[in-house]
Amino acid sequence: MCNEKHVVDVIKFYEECSRRKDTQSSKDTTKSILVFRSLEEGDREGIKALHEDLFPVKYSEDFYDNAVRNKSPTGSPLYCRVGLLNVYESGSNNDTLTLLNNENEMNDNARRIDIVGDSTQASMDELANFLGMDIDCFDDLDVENVISIKNEKSIEDAAESALNQRIVACIIGGFSESIRIRDAKLVEKLVRNFDNHPHMFYLMTIGSTQAFREQKLGTKMLKDCLKMIERVPTCGVVYLHVITYNVAAIKFYEKQGFYRIEEIKDYYNIDGVRHSCYLYAYFVNGNYPTFYQAITSVCRSMYSYFFS
Ligand SMILES: CC(C)(COP(=O)(O)OP(=O)(O)OC[C@H]1O[C@@H](n2cnc3c(N)ncnc32)[C@H](O)[C@@H]1OP(=O)(O)O)[C@@H](O)C(=O)NCCC(=O)NCCS
Repeated sequence: MCNEKHVVDVIKFYEECSRRKDTQSSKDTTKSILVFRSLEEGDREGIKALHEDLFPVKYSEDFYDNAVRNKSPTGSPLYCRVGLLNVYESGSNNDTLTLLNNENEMNDNARRIDIVGDSTQASMDELANFLGMDIDCFDDLDVENVISIKNEKSIEDAAESALNQRIVACIIGGFSESIRIRDAKLVEKLVRNFDNHPHMFYLMTIGSTQAFREQKLGTKMLKDCLKMIERVPTCGVVYLHVITYNVAAIKFYEKQGFYRIEEIKDYYNIDGVRHSCYLYAYFVNGNYPTFYQAITSVCRSMYSYFFS
């Protein structure tokens, strides 16, 4: 697994490559990597552009200010990870290639984007602190580093438009104390025993640009996040809202084991038009759905299996 220094090395190397880019044809010799890291102040415009591209909902300027500080409006730490696509020339720096190759063979430029990740420990330490856990509790999070991207054309499109380094994916969410959530009915629906599970995790946004969809990048981001949450025994649930017509996201969450809890009418106001959403929940660390939530979810899955 790459650490923070490796990621910085990769970015420096990448910047050097981009300076030399004009003199060589890039298409035949480029390789691409996705670097995952926490959000930084300089990502504000990139993350805003990505959100405006991905979501019909307009987020406030405060949302982006808070996200790049990895802080929620109440000051509690956020879990924010972005995927930066880096395109670089292969073969021009063997040392760095060795570094990137240390776990994988990079033998098929056009078809594959390798992922390196760091856990940007400072923000994870803040999370641990907020949750009252040991500061090193997330140290050895074993994130999956590599996925294979299947769609050759998508990669080339992505690389072409990448302008060498560009945010192409992100996930943002945060823990809250259930006792501080104003909607007591919501908490009751999601947590069976408040003493055992005083924390909840709200998944605010997740997504990637079109070229990276349906290639398991969303699954990777969500699974990494769930692995982190499973380390927090006081957290019993991950919950989110999804607009009712977002079929891809609904199938995505259901595939990951999320339960549909209810429909909330007119939850979103997009350009003056009201839209309903579904509340979804993923139960962790010994918390569990009610019998009704479980049975309706099984019936819905069977219905989709046979009729869609
Ligand atoms: C939702 C989103 C994050 C999914 O990420 P992704 O990387 O495309 O999804 P994955 O490749 O990991 O897919 C995992 C599963 O999700 C489901 N899925 C994903 N995209 C789908 C689609 N377009 N249609 C139907 N099912 C889909 C499938 O069950 C898939 O499993 P399968 O490949 O074995 O069939 C992605 O579509 C996206 O970025 N959408 C725009 C932003 C958004 O709507 N975010 C959610 C807001 S609540």
